[in-house]
Amino acid sequence: MNPDLDALMPYPFEKLAALKAGVMPPEALAHIPLTIGEPQHEPYAAALESLHAHQHEMARYPATAGLPALRQAIATWASRRFSLTDLDPDTQVLPVNGTREAIFAFVQAALDHTHPARVAMPNPFYQIYEGATLLAGGEPLYLDCRADHGFRPDIDAVSPDTWRNVQIVFVCSPGNPTGAVTPIEDFTRLIELADEFDFIVASDECYSELYLDETMSPPGLLEACASLGRHDYRRCLVFHSLSKRSNLPGLRSGFVAGDASLIAPFKRYRTYHGCAMSLPLQHASITAWQDEAHVRANRDAYRKKFAAVTEILAPVMTFPTPEASFYLWPAVPGGDDETFTRDLYAQEHVSVLPGRYMSRDGTDGSNPGAGRVRLALVAEVEATVEGAHRIRRFLERR
Ligand SMILES: Cc1ncc(COP(=O)(O)O)c(C=O)c1O
Repeated sequence: MNPDLDALMPYPFEKLAALKAGVMPPEALAHIPLTIGEPQHEPYAAALESLHAHQHEMARYPATAGLPALRQAIATWASRRFSLTDLDPDTQVLPVNGTREAIFAFVQAALDHTHPARVAMPNPFYQIYEGATLLAGGEPLYLDCRADHGFRPDIDAVSPDTWRNVQIVFVCSPGNPTGAVTPIEDFTRLIELADEFDFIVASDECYSELYLDETMSPPGLLEACASLGRHDYRRCLVFHSLSKRSNLPGLRSGFVAGDASLIAPFKRYRTYHGCAMSLPLQHASITAWQDEAHVRANRDAYRKKFAAVTEILAPVMTFPTPEASFYLWPAVPGGDDETFTRDLYAQEHVSVLPGRYMSRDGTDGSNPGAGRVRLALVAEVEATVEGAHRIRRFLERR
């Protein structure tokens, strides 16, 4: 087998299982998992109806490029959402089976092994950026996201010598686990650096539709390009998904959009990879991208949960007011995220994820996730609120 597989780090949930091994939580309390970022709200029903209505199309092979109608629905959605005037559905859009596989596959397709190949990523980060880099034979460059820089990477702290070896920069906006949103100025600066040092900016925007202030939708990388008049989106790609937007994580549907000169070779790679989206799923996706009412209702449900949980936890923990995503990223009193996680589970049967499991030691040798935990507010409101009450009770008892 490929020896690079040994370079893959244990997944955060494996580490969590090891941390909790042997701990006996109180049986009288039902388990409340605030760990996995899987939406628990109702999936968008009309999309599921389309899926059923097109079942018979399972009898046909789908094409890698997807149906023209799907690419058009995506282009229409992205153009409206990010104020784009000329996104070409045929050359600048590609449907994918969720952002996870697309992020992984894109790194395999894009890294050039004949040159030093570093891939920059936020730290803490979504594990796939790192795993994809290691398996593609690249070297991760971790860009710390700390409170003193708004939980965003300080891109101007990276030296020109380092940038010279970077081939891809991952942005995660809104961020998992921090909820921080990349402002348009940061995107613009990254585009300047991409031109200067010839790298690709890959912006994972899979949480972009879960924002808390209805009047403040997070900006995107293509929007930054459009405002610069960069209509070929040169060196830029975005990754979007229906998983969080429409509560359809099992549909495995998303898209990649941007620079046609990156999309064409990526499509070619995918033709060999054999990962075209089945036709019923494509029809369900068209239905989902064409509707915004269910997305507004979804945001509303998250907003209510964030308000309730913030009120319960603010007196006992400090956390950045999240702008978007469905995560809270509090600092743990006492500063030890592993002890906090284990003791909370032992006493209150609530699971959270230690921040250090999602990050690596940063430039100053310390782990930027240590001392924080990630709470995923994905469950229905009662369970989430009950989880928050138990965390507060646990902290007040200490
Ligand atoms: C930051 C980030 N990117 C991508 C994904 C993958 O989502 P999907 O493959 O369902 O689109 C996730 C899932 O949790 C995530 O947190």
